[in-house]
Amino acid sequence: MRNLMHNKCLIAVLVVVFLVVVGKVSGLPWSTDMFRQPAIQPYQMPRGYKQPLAFPPNSVSIDEPTELLTRRDYEAITQNPVSITTHAIESGQDLFNTFCFPCHGKQGRGDGPVIKKGFYPVDLTSPGVKARTDGYIYSYIRYGGLVMMPTYREFISSDEAWEIVAYVRKLQGSMDNTGNKGQ
Ligand code: HEC
Repeated sequence: MRNLMHNKCLIAVLVVVFLVVVGKVSGLPWSTDMFRQPAIQPYQMPRGYKQPLAFPPNSVSIDEPTELLTRRDYEAITQNPVSITTHAIESGQDLFNTFCFPCHGKQGRGDGPVIKKGFYPVDLTSPGVKARTDGYIYSYIRYGGLVMMPTYREFISSDEAWEIVAYVRKLQGSMDNTGNKGQ
């Protein structure tokens, strides 16, 4: 009987030793996520390098052109650089109805719901705004207003801003649905 107990103890010890050895060899505890892997972690230096590797060119998506123009440079642009397709105008319309409608209203007449709360109205179809350059309207979206209109740079990319400009021109009646300039 004592011998049997003794054997059981021995077996238990052997099992524990076996598990520890197997654990070491097989890398236990097994990783339950994808975090620990042979990839280079952020801020980690690859072996043999003295400073972090630069990203290969064009591997990180950035919306901004490498050379940003100033607000004044944009204001001087008279012609929308984005090709005015039906798709571009529809996209501009969606964006306008999301971001500009609250203040400028669906038709751009300056009668959006926020205006009723006391904001002062700006009619984008007025002769004054019609006479602005495409780049002036663009810069209002990307740089914000000269008085109090907020900037939409974080939410509206450069191309999207040009699409909105095209749609504003359509609201002003100076462009038809297909992007052909009217009068
Ligand atoms: C929170 C209210 C608000 C929103 C939203 C808003 N605007 Fe404005 N916008 C204004 C106000 C107020 C002005 C008057 C000038 C200023 O504040 O600088 C203005 C002026 C403008 C002007 C200048 C008109 C001129 O001739 O000087 C343009 C162009 C314009 N907005 C376009 C847009 C477009 C396009 C959007 C959507 C991306 C938009 N705005 C969203 C409030 C707003």
